[in-house]
Amino acid sequence: MTGNVSILFVGDVVGGIGKRTLLALLPALRDRFAPDFVVVNGENAAGGVGITPKIARELLASGVDVITLGNHTYRHREIYPYLDEEERILRPANFLASQPGHGFCVVDSSAGVRLGVVSLSGNLFMKAGRPAFPEADAALHALDGKVDHVLVDMHAEATSEKVAMGWYLDGRATAVVGTHTHIPTADARVLPGGTAYISDVGMTGPRGGVIGVRREQAVTSMVTQMPIRFETSTEDPWLNAVVIRADAPRHAVSIEQVLEPAPGVV
Ligand code: FE2
Repeated sequence: MTGNVSILFVGDVVGGIGKRTLLALLPALRDRFAPDFVVVNGENAAGGVGITPKIARELLASGVDVITLGNHTYRHREIYPYLDEEERILRPANFLASQPGHGFCVVDSSAGVRLGVVSLSGNLFMKAGRPAFPEADAALHALDGKVDHVLVDMHAEATSEKVAMGWYLDGRATAVVGTHTHIPTADARVLPGGTAYISDVGMTGPRGGVIGVRREQAVTSMVTQMPIRFETSTEDPWLNAVVIRADAPRHAVSIEQVLEPAPGVV
């Protein structure tokens, strides 16, 4: 049955602590939710900004099906060729076509379900070369007939733009999940047309910092208005994710938040 599916989507993995939190909790999450697919936003995985091929390979080897990215995609040069070579790592589809990488892909589950994953960047307060909404249409058009489900990661600053994207794709995508702010929102729901939606999944990383950064550094930077070197906090790691279940192609029935502390992870 190609309609029935469950997808675990993990919010922005921040630094080594975020990666270790994900890898430590993933086996238990697999037991608990039996996801057919695991999709992870990895745009902060390398020391808090960007990702490297080594980290991407590690995530994929741990059973992650697709890695989505965002505004920090091009922070590390060594990722550029990898973005072209590896199908299962996505930069926002609405970046310029001339920029390295691609914005959507298709993965199959062991049961033969085909999931299309689309990465998008917001345009409000974000640097994306092209508008997100027509690019969402173009990606869905390209995936038509090739997938049973579609998951869209809307990596954006403004909740208004994320909510609008949810409504825009309602009935056309199985799920539209927001990322980037690192703070989970309390608005997870299935929209009337059958699209699971949340404005922000949150972050997999240190809650003891300021959206991932060591809090004394972030606070000093704001208090003094002077440049400060930022490092990733390791205090109080949590995993933030959602589990989406669907009963028919592009038709979700539930979206459940998973907010898990990982006190043993250092
Ligand atoms: Fe981001």
